[in-house]
Amino acid sequence: MTRRPLVGGNWKMHLLRADAVAYCDRIRAEAGDLPADAVLFPSAPLLALVARKLGGSSIACGGQDLHPEEKGAHTGDVSGPQLVDAGCEWVLCGHSERRQNHHESDELVERKALAAQQHGLKPLVCIGETAAERESGATFDVLDRQLDAALAGRPEPFALAYEPVWAIGTGATATPEIAQEAHAHIRETLADLTGAEAASTKRILYGGSVNPENAAELFAQPDLDGFLVGGASLDPERFLAIIRSCG
Ligand code: 13P
Repeated sequence: MTRRPLVGGNWKMHLLRADAVAYCDRIRAEAGDLPADAVLFPSAPLLALVARKLGGSSIACGGQDLHPEEKGAHTGDVSGPQLVDAGCEWVLCGHSERRQNHHESDELVERKALAAQQHGLKPLVCIGETAAERESGATFDVLDRQLDAALAGRPEPFALAYEPVWAIGTGATATPEIAQEAHAHIRETLADLTGAEAASTKRILYGGSVNPENAAELFAQPDLDGFLVGGASLDPERFLAIIRSCG
């Protein structure tokens, strides 16, 4: 089963409009020649601009979060239809910074993934254990619990990102062996949930201190189908180098 690699750039709460314009001009110039699908996840005020700048290219735009409801009195939130209206194709669901900083439960992540699907967005569902959970030997239980919940509503299509919390923004990238072990486990659990054939088609991205120097070695792992990149995606040259390492 060949899975076309996918690389996401999660800008988190970085960059201003002028940065985004220069970035999109640069990355667009290379878009026809990339070995992976690519998607940028800017923060909400930049979404429409980035989607417009990337329009007609092979690089997509996605939201960093969505509210499970279609509309309503939810100050500060963004709905699925608003993301679609801004030109988004993807949306992150359950990023660990949302789970930790905004107390998002597994059940809420499931509702978000389902809302994304209902509005025609592709959810990129993020899962991953904390350092304490890994140290206590609970990694696989945590991944299974998060997966089980996030996919309970059977969103389709979707992609997954394995982002161990201890590797995010720390420089402590998972070793290729640790990443492969987790990815293989995730694919097995996926096979239990969705069937072996469907599981073999799903892209499972790795995220956590990915950079142009460590990407190729990670990408060589058989169950790793691309990356969700934070810090290194803020520089278009570094992001392009990571995408190219999936060739
Ligand atoms: P870093 O690449 O900065 O570690 O962030 C990873 C991440 O959280 C991507 O969603």
